[in-house]
Amino acid sequence: MTKLAIIGGTGLTELEGLEIIRKQVLYTPYGEVSAPIIHGIYAGKALIFLPRHGSRHTIPPHKINYRANIWALKELGVDTVIAIAAVGSIRREMQNSDLVIPHQLIDYTSAREHTFFADNLTQVTHVDFSQPYCENLRNQLIVASRQLNCQVFTQGVYGVTQGPRLETIAEIDRMEKDGCDIVGMTGMPEAGLARELELCYACCAVVVNPAAGRSEALITMADISANLIKGVQHVKTLLSEIVLHI
Ligand code: HPA
Repeated sequence: MTKLAIIGGTGLTELEGLEIIRKQVLYTPYGEVSAPIIHGIYAGKALIFLPRHGSRHTIPPHKINYRANIWALKELGVDTVIAIAAVGSIRREMQNSDLVIPHQLIDYTSAREHTFFADNLTQVTHVDFSQPYCENLRNQLIVASRQLNCQVFTQGVYGVTQGPRLETIAEIDRMEKDGCDIVGMTGMPEAGLARELELCYACCAVVVNPAAGRSEALITMADISANLIKGVQHVKTLLSEIVLHI
């Protein structure tokens, strides 16, 4: 049977409607997990919930212990992970509170602990990452998203930046030339680490602002928060739909 975990992003440090069975503090060989792991029931299904920015949303993207988080999920027997992420839109058709189920990513992050295959190896290991997301889970997300009354993009290239500052216009222009559709700060190394531990991992991104230079206005936290509120409602509906079929 599938054991599902949801990694909550900005705007989803709590999963409203999740009946909490227990919270578990886990120590890993890689250090502390972002928050106590929540075991609960959502829409009638048992699942695990982990807010990647911590229970009070205090851990910035570049300080998240991605290795501890992914290791802990594997340790608990999780095999399927849906990662929620707030992103900026580079492509103009992708608008605030739309959802994007990315099919590719480009990693622009630096100096993050990004692999389990570094020390005490018996053999150098390279994992295939041509398709960074689990296609089966992506398809399930796409089917579940048909129930939503918002725009859902069933493909997208997620450019992952280091943060925590937002990008310059020139950086976004370059990312657009590279083929990126959305920009966020948490997609890597999370997806790569999930692949290293052979987890089926896919992402549901919520657009919360036009990326730098893609609107006249400056990007403010207030605007991001306002757009998140609506987008996260779509995510919750999507999750309650998908857990019925997983
Ligand atoms: N850039 C990077 N990360 C983000 C953005 C953005 O514009 N919006 C939300 N996360």
